Amino acid sequence: MQIQKVGVVGCGLMGHGIVQIAAQGGFQVVAVETKQEFLDSGLARIEKSLAKMAEKAVEKGKSTVEQAQASAAAALGRIEGTLDAKDLADCDLVVEAIVEDLGLKRALFAELGRICKQETILASNTSSFPIGEMAAASGRPSRFVGLHFFNPVQLMRLVEVVRTDATDDEVFATARSFGETCGKTPVACKDTPGFVVNRLLVPYMVQALEMLERGDATKEDIDAAMQLGCGHPMGPITLTDYVGLDTTLFILEGWVARFPDEPAFAIPAVLRRKVKEGKLGRKTGEGFYKWDGDKKV
Ligand code: CAA
Ligand code: NAD
Repeated sequence: MQIQKVGVVGCGLMGHGIVQIAAQGGFQVVAVETKQEFLDSGLARIEKSLAKMAEKAVEKGKSTVEQAQASAAAALGRIEGTLDAKDLADCDLVVEAIVEDLGLKRALFAELGRICKQETILASNTSSFPIGEMAAASGRPSRFVGLHFFNPVQLMRLVEVVRTDATDDEVFATARSFGETCGKTPVACKDTPGFVVNRLLVPYMVQALEMLERGDATKEDIDAAMQLGCGHPMGPITLTDYVGLDTTLFILEGWVARFPDEPAFAIPAVLRRKVKEGKLGRKTGEGFYKWDGDKKV
C-alpha cells in the first residue's frame, strides 16, 4: 500500500513535529487541532523549526540558501490545518498525538474508525498505553499500529513501530516504511508497557526524582552526573522538564492503575506537587528548571 496523504491529530509538542517530518518526507499532511490558537501555535513552531533546519543545512554545506529555502517552503506548502476531524476521511495513514489519556484516545479512534476510508491505517504515538485497546476501539484492529516518535521529533532518529497480534503484516511493513521515509530508523516492538524506550527510561526518571526528593544530590548535580558520567545529552531532571511533567505523570498513573505492585512505576510526590502547581516543564516556562522557549535559564 502506498501512503500519500497523512493525517496527524494533535499539533502540540509531538504532533507538530510529526506533521513537519511527514511533510519533509514528501507526504501531503492534514493537521487537526481542537482550537485555532493551538493549531496556529503548532504551525508557527513548524515554520520556525523548518527555518532553523534550512539554516543548518546551508551552514553544513548540504544545500545552497535557495535550495534550503525552497525545500522548507515546499514542506510548508504540503501542510493543511483544520479543526474538523472529518477532513481526515481520505488520508492513507492517521497518526494520533493527543494528550496521554486513554479515554480520550479511545473515543477519538472510535470516531476515526467511522470517518476514515476503509483502507486508512490508524496509528497512535502513545508513550504508555496498550495499542490493542485503542485498536479495538477503532473497529479495525488489523489496520492499527503504534508509531512512537521521540521528542524533539525533528532531531531524534528513532521510531518504535508496535504491532499487536491482530496487526496485518502489510500494515506493519507500510508503517515501518513510512517512518523510514520520514528519516527515522524503525525498531519493532510488541505491545508491551512503554515498548522499549519508555520501559527503561521512565523508571530511570522516577529514580532521579526520588533522589532529588530525598536530597541525595541537587538537580544540577544529578543532571551533570548522567551527562558527564554516562554521556547522556541531557540529565534526567532536565529530560523530565523536556518531556513535560504532566505527560510523565499521565504515563505513570496509567501504569500504576494496571500494575499497582510494580515499584519501578511508583509516582514521586514531587512530580504530583509540581503538576498541581502548573509547573509542567519547558512548555509552561517552568518545571524543575526555568525555561525561555527551548533554552534552560
Ligand atoms: N527543530 C529544529 N532545530 C532544533 C529543534 C527543532 N525542534 N530543537 C533544537 N534544534 C536545534 C537548536 O536550535 C540547536 O541549533 P544551534 O546549534 O544552531 O543553536 C541544535 O538543534 C542543538 O540544540 P540545543 O542547542 O538545544 O542543544 P543539544 O545539542 O543539547 O541538542 C537535543 C538538543 C537533540 C534535544 C539533545 O539535548 C538530546 O538529544 N536530548 C535528549 C532528548 C531525549 O532523550 N529525548 C527522548 C525523550 S523521551 C520520549 O520522547 C518518549 C516519550 O514517550 C516520553
Ligand atoms: P501536548 O499536550 O503537547 O499536545 C497534545 C495536543 O493534542 C494539544 O495541543 C491538544 O490541544 C491536542 N488535542 C487534544 N485532544 C484532541 C483532539 N480530540 N483532537 C485534536 N487535538 C487534540 O502533548 P505531547 O507531549 O505532544 O503528547 C502527545 C502524545 O505523544 C501523548 O500520547 C504522549 O504520551 C506522546 N509522547 C510524548 C512525548 C513527550 O516527550 N512529550 C514523547 C513521545 C510520545
